[in-house]
Amino acid sequence: MECVKTLTTSRNNERFHRQEEMLAVIFLAIILGINAHPFDELHQYVDEHVEDYVQALREWVAVESDSSDATKRPDLHRMMDMTAEKLKNMGGEVEMVDIGSQELPDGTTIPLPKVVTAQIGKDSNKHTVCIYGHVDVQPAKKEDGWATDPYNLTDIDGKLYGRGSSDNKAPVLAWMHAVEAYQALDLDLPVNVKFLIEGMEETGSNGLDTMIVAKRDTFFSDVDYIIISDCGWLSRKPALTYGTRGNCYFFAEVEGPKQDLHSGVYGGTVIEPMTDLIGILDSLISPNGKILVPGIREAVAPFSDEEWKMYQDIDFNIETFKSKIGVSQLMYNNKVDLLSHRWRHPTVSIHGIEGAFSASGSKTVIPAKVTGKFSIRQVPDMDPAMVKKQVTDYLNSVFGKRKSPNKLKVTMIIGAKPWLADTKHALYEAGRAAVKRVFQMEPDLIREGGTIPIAQTFQDVTGKSIIMLPIGGFDDGLHSQNEKMNRYNYIEGTKLFISYLHEVAEIKE
Ligand SMILES: *[C@@H]1O[C@H](CO)[C@@H](O)[C@H](O)[C@H]1NC(C)=O
Ligand SMILES: [Zn+2]
Repeated sequence: MECVKTLTTSRNNERFHRQEEMLAVIFLAIILGINAHPFDELHQYVDEHVEDYVQALREWVAVESDSSDATKRPDLHRMMDMTAEKLKNMGGEVEMVDIGSQELPDGTTIPLPKVVTAQIGKDSNKHTVCIYGHVDVQPAKKEDGWATDPYNLTDIDGKLYGRGSSDNKAPVLAWMHAVEAYQALDLDLPVNVKFLIEGMEETGSNGLDTMIVAKRDTFFSDVDYIIISDCGWLSRKPALTYGTRGNCYFFAEVEGPKQDLHSGVYGGTVIEPMTDLIGILDSLISPNGKILVPGIREAVAPFSDEEWKMYQDIDFNIETFKSKIGVSQLMYNNKVDLLSHRWRHPTVSIHGIEGAFSASGSKTVIPAKVTGKFSIRQVPDMDPAMVKKQVTDYLNSVFGKRKSPNKLKVTMIIGAKPWLADTKHALYEAGRAAVKRVFQMEPDLIREGGTIPIAQTFQDVTGKSIIMLPIGGFDDGLHSQNEKMNRYNYIEGTKLFISYLHEVAEIKE
């Protein structure tokens, strides 16, 4: 009996286990069926369309959409039309938003390029992301020292040279191609995608703030997350960017005699505005980089141990950095100090002096009025309004000590805030997962020393979370001669965006 009973039980158990196993297999299949994301298929699609993507970039780079040059405005308008056209062809609901006009220094006004917005997908069960980018470029001329025609995309060893290739035309196209890949394969887009593409970024995003405020309750109302891909990696390793510095830009004008004077005839008798200006500019920062304006260093957020550790782990080579910029010595010799002073500490840069005799030759003039231009890259927890007061008060006091009869006027022209994101936010988790899938490595978490003022505006006005997801290379030469986009970054970046759309859809909120 015992024996039989045991046998029966064990048979029952066996049957039970088989059923359990079968259920587990079915269950697993269901999970896999739901979660199986056809990355291989999508990546293969991208690999098969590389030449189309390069051609699309060639057509965009060929448009001289230089926003700083009023004579190029028709090209810029055409660039916005091309952007809208492409989004329409993708089935997007496209709007070209009029943001008014711009006054030129000569008093004439010209229309600003329209901002292109688009919506692809409107499923209320899905998250909605808004991708921000720009299609205007910095000026470029072959004579500036380009090895190739800046507006004729040229492929040399897998590097696609052309103005605007990396900043920001290829990243914008990569986002469009990522969406197109889903569409072409008839795959459900994991999230609703909105685009907001502007044409004035390189000259300060004229008109965009107002537009964002105006669209807060319409275009932005259903946006969950904002993605910006207008920056680059720090090394050959992919990166996620979680902060940018702000910028306070100052003019310090020193005015003396009513006209320029001959230095032989008047030199030694007048107190020269240029001498005063050089004196006050020299009081801003010490030779070893210490900002001398009282209150500024005290306002900087403390550097935590956790942050120090993050910087320590970042892939960054000081020697490569030195050779890239052509200097033999830097302000700091170790990685953590160098990166932290690039990203999370303020600095003063003196940009130029207007009114100075600047042509070549040796004219002996005493300029009657000179304007020094300098800026302070800002970081949390500095506040532009406070910086304005600190700098103005300090320069006035330094100038006062000189007992000069000349007049000093300090004005702050730009007060762009820094931006900082929480790297523990789900958007960054999604970024890590997407990078791991495409590049089989962990991304570096980095900040930008430069300023992308629109990031903070997005955050302040819409209250949405933002991620900066760069695909540009560390040596792309943005704003410089021989700007390029690596084919590798462009193509693998497109795959990264494809993965990212999937990862964002998985965020539970
Ligand atoms: C671009 O450069 C290529 C190669 O140098 C040349 O063949 C082509 O004609 C150029 N295109 C234009 C539009 O200038
Ligand atoms: Zn840019």
